[in-house]
This record gives sequence, C-alpha cells and structure tokens, in this order.
Amino acid sequence: MRIYPAKSLHGTVHLPGDKSISHRAALIAAMAVGDTRIENFSTAEDCQTTIKCLKELGVSITQIGNDVLVKGVGKNGFRKPIGPLDCGNSGTTLRLLAGILAGQDFETTLIGDESLKKRPMQRVIDPLEKMGARIGSSDDKPPLTISGIYPLRSFAHVQNIASAQVKSSILLAALNSDGDTSIIETIWTRDHTERMLEWFDVNVRTSMRKDRKQVTVSGSEVLKAHDVKIPSDISSAAFFIVAAACLRGSNIEMTNVGVNRTRTAICDLIFDLCADAEIHTFTDVCNERVGTINVYGGLLPRKQRLLLNGPIIAQMIDELPIIAILGTQLEHGIEVRDAGELRVKESDRIVAITENLKRMGAEVTEFDDGFKVEKSRLKGAVVDSFGDHRIAMAFAVAGILADGETEIIDAHCVDVSFPGFFDVLASITRST
Ligand code: S3P
Repeated sequence: MRIYPAKSLHGTVHLPGDKSISHRAALIAAMAVGDTRIENFSTAEDCQTTIKCLKELGVSITQIGNDVLVKGVGKNGFRKPIGPLDCGNSGTTLRLLAGILAGQDFETTLIGDESLKKRPMQRVIDPLEKMGARIGSSDDKPPLTISGIYPLRSFAHVQNIASAQVKSSILLAALNSDGDTSIIETIWTRDHTERMLEWFDVNVRTSMRKDRKQVTVSGSEVLKAHDVKIPSDISSAAFFIVAAACLRGSNIEMTNVGVNRTRTAICDLIFDLCADAEIHTFTDVCNERVGTINVYGGLLPRKQRLLLNGPIIAQMIDELPIIAILGTQLEHGIEVRDAGELRVKESDRIVAITENLKRMGAEVTEFDDGFKVEKSRLKGAVVDSFGDHRIAMAFAVAGILADGETEIIDAHCVDVSFPGFFDVLASITRST
C-alpha cells in the first residue's frame, strides 16, 4: 500500500462497530437464554472469528449486513466442536472463549495464527486451573487444550497484569462456578464485559478500596437475552483523531462513537495537545456511553516532553502506536514507559514502532517498557506492518504526515480490526 502526504482531513469518518464490545456481545448473547439481535456488529475479521468459533460450538448465528442474530444456548449449553477452534489473529477470542470453555464438560483445543501462537497464555491458564479446569499449552502459548468442568470452583483472583482479556475470561468462567468469584484489579482496564453482563441482567457487584477495584459475579446468575446496539470503535477513531490533530486546517466528525471512560484517554490527551477538539452529545446506549467527536487540526506549542506512564497506559494501550506517530509532531516529543505489554500484542509493538520510525528518519529510542520519540521531520520510506493491523494504520498516518511516498508492506492486515481503512482515509484526505 502506498501513502502520500496530505494537507488536511475533512468530513465525516465512518468507523466499524467497536471490536471489544462486539466480541463480548456475541459471546454473552450465546451464553444467554433467548435470542439477541446485535446491531452494527464490527466488520473486523477478529469478530468474525468469534462468530465462527461460536457456530462450531453449536450456536445458531445469522448475519444480515452488520446485524447479527444469536440464538442463546445458555451459559452451559455449548456442544463439543468437531475439531480445534481457530481463533486466527484474535487474542480476545481465544482468551474470552477459554473462560467459557473452562466451565463446559468437554475438551476443546484453541489454536491461532503465527502471531497468536507467540502470545502468552499463562495469565488465563493459572486462574482457570485454580477454578478446576485443566489446560494444556505449548510452553504457555497456544494451542490451548481445555478440559472443562462444571461447576468450576469459585475464587478470588488478584490480577497483577493489567488485562481486560484476563478479567473477562475469569468473569465468563465465574458464571459457571459454584459460588461468588471476584477479580481484584490493581490497574483498571476496560469494563465492557461488566457492562455487557449487566445489560443481560447479571448482577455485577463492583466495589472500590483505595485504587483496587473488585468485581464479583455469582455462578447462580442466568443471562437473559437483550438486543444490543454497538457503538463505533474509538480505537479505530484514534488514527483519524491524531491525524486531524496534526494537520492544521483539518475538520473531522465521528458520530455514535463508544466513549466509555476506560477508553477515552486518547481523547483527553488530544484535548490537551490540540487547539480545538471535543466530545459532545452524550447518550447511554445499551449500558455504554456514546458521543460525537470533532477534531479541528493544529497542535499547541509545548514547553517540555510529554511523559506517558503509570496506570493511564492500560487505558490507551491500543492507541500507543498512533501516539508514537503523534510524538514525531510534538515539540519536545513523547516518552512512553510502563508499556511492556506492547511487546506481547499482535506484534512486538515496541520493535515495530521504533524500527519503522527510524526508517522514516525519526529520532527514536527503544526501552524495555516503552520508547522515546523526538519531534522529527518524517521522510517517506518502506515500512513493515509486522503483520499487525494497528502498526499498519499508525504508519499510514505517519505516511500522510511525511515528505514523499511511504510504502507499507503487508498492509492488508488492517482487516483484522478495520476493513476499508485505506478507503476511509482516502475519502477524507485533501492533498492541496
Ligand atoms: C482487549 C483488551 C486489551 C487490548 C485488546 C482488546 C479486550 O488486551 O489490547 O486489543 O477487548 O479486552 P489485554 O487484555 O491483553 O490488555
């Protein structure tokens, strides 16, 4: 894919449905009693992977355009699949399904593509084994072979890694446990699973002690089907938010965006850095906050380097590749620390970011847990997506900010979260 410099971005940006919420809607609807219609289901390949796996587990699912109709089988009503379930590139599919399968009385194997096969799974294996499931792995990595048991043992898990996928896996397993199961988060992560469970009439009890958040659900809960409307994906919006902020004279709007407070750290950052940007017209849709985002381009002058570290990192983890590109445009640049989790995403994102930025002539330093980027004049170059959708999209934005032509190798991986990304970008780009 070839990308050329842009002068500014203008118009309404059409985004896919939120990927995280779509996964949860499909999985939770499958565990419910009754039928659920999910509107604006994400077009992301990852979410189609979740649907495919659910079908192989005996769930009847029909898709009409972006609407998905799920006939719930109940939280313990899944059928042993004929072969292994292929979770493709999707860590969310694999880890959340592991939680559901831990409480089914049969054995299932979960496999994935080359990237997923490299991702750590001990973080879900340990708690799910404590609940009574037996899980085989290839040295902590997929394939995972899960021997489920019903009911699982209830327990309290203190989560040391900031991961919404691990929390969600345990919460879904908890629904098939013999009592109350709690997850204690020391660093807060996205809370879509809790919200979606509440939407399906599950009593999710949340309490706060200092900065520890405890979430508890009971194994006696019955999930009741309720239709769901999915908002647009803020993590997909992030690429356009940053691009428009960096290009003076831009004026873009994104409506119906999911602006759950555990996901809007990227917006808060841009509101601080950019002359004019806002979220407005808030509504509550299916227990999620939704709003309209406007960005008018132009970055404000700054006196010092921007440092991003600590608990806020978990709330912008998927946005860090595009934040690295933002760093090249900011006076005094950006330093990101406490972001070691980036090394175990769809690619080692710290390597992907630093390697590609160097190719584009940026001054960048790699740390074990992050990176530092100086304000740099980007030059068009051949960059690699590393097979990672968010790296491909971040470097497409780098390409429109650079001088000359940028070529992204293996750019089709954007389909993992945002099929049509390049067309949407082209449709709002002005080059003169
Ligand atoms: C996700 C959680 C995050 C995020 C991923 C989606 C989710 O992963 O990076 O893209 O939907 O729960 P971790 O739980 O590994 O932090």
